Amino acid sequence: MRYSTILGIESSCDDTAVAIWQNGKILANITAGQEIHREYGGVVPELASRAHQSHIIPTLEMALQTAKIAINEVDAIAVTQGPGLMGSLLVGLNTAKGLSIALNKPMIGVNHLQAHIAALYIENPTPVFPLLVLLVSGGHTQLILVSNYEETKLLGTTLDDAAGEAFDKAAKLLGLPYPGGPFIEKWAESGNPDAFAFPKASVPGLNMSFSGIKTALLYFLQRETNKNQNFITDNLSDICASYQQSIIRYLIEKTQKAINEYGPATLAIAGGVSANKLLRHQLQELAENRKLQCIIPSFEYCTDNAAMICMAGHFLLESGKNMRLDILPFSKSNPIH
Ligand code: KG4
Ligand code: ZN
Repeated sequence: MRYSTILGIESSCDDTAVAIWQNGKILANITAGQEIHREYGGVVPELASRAHQSHIIPTLEMALQTAKIAINEVDAIAVTQGPGLMGSLLVGLNTAKGLSIALNKPMIGVNHLQAHIAALYIENPTPVFPLLVLLVSGGHTQLILVSNYEETKLLGTTLDDAAGEAFDKAAKLLGLPYPGGPFIEKWAESGNPDAFAFPKASVPGLNMSFSGIKTALLYFLQRETNKNQNFITDNLSDICASYQQSIIRYLIEKTQKAINEYGPATLAIAGGVSANKLLRHQLQELAENRKLQCIIPSFEYCTDNAAMICMAGHFLLESGKNMRLDILPFSKSNPIH
């Protein structure tokens, strides 16, 4: 290995994260969240970039302390280049550039989506390829075939909202804080998933759509609250359980379809929504039924984190990818295609 200690920095959205990887082990994985967005029902980009600025140095210091290493022991720096919010990405990227110059160590830009896939290898360094990965986050929902550590093929994607967005927007309609996924999951625990029916989008092939289910929820809530002002508070658990089940059923159906078409050896899940217990459970069951290996990462590696940036950076650095200091952040382009 050419680079045995890698510092990873992630700041694409509303989490400021720094991790340290050494010879295949994660020594520190620190994430500072941003409570400030809760009351707005979504991430406010300007507030996010300001919060990154105040969190980045303390998070870096905490990572070094946790890993018990000095900054000059770092051999290379990996940083999220995109996709994400421009103002947020700039904080992480410029910190990485500053460290790279000050320490005279190389820096590598990492694609955030590739990093969510690389997160799978933290606890499973030698998976059986090909992997079918369901990547479900706040910004993306994709089915990806991974042939080896470097080759990925996009099989299907959402045509509109991401699955995480469907959770977040529903939470806003229900008066729950941001990010909505964990709150909907919590309320769903005591609810009846068959209490209400929400229609799923009929999108051909392996593409998906989540904007219809959110609109269906909106109209349903308007109709019911016209009849009973307290409908949401009276039925919150049942609404959350039914809505959660509809989204997860749809994701599982599309995953089944992809298994039928591509015959992977391993089924895996990545991205923030993969923290959802029902989804984890159903994916595990699906893998067992189809006699596939299954990779379900620990929670800390599912949502945005910097350990996955170290991991993705490690593969890029070892493959000799060029390391330029003049790289720019990108907000939308999606090199997984
Ligand atoms: O990957 P991630 O941390 O950030 C992005 O790159 O988007 O994903 C965040 C998304 C949010 O939409 C959040 O509501 C969702 O993941 N999420 C969940 C759960 N935990 C986080 N969705 C459903 N159930 C959860 N337990
Ligand atoms: Zn993410």
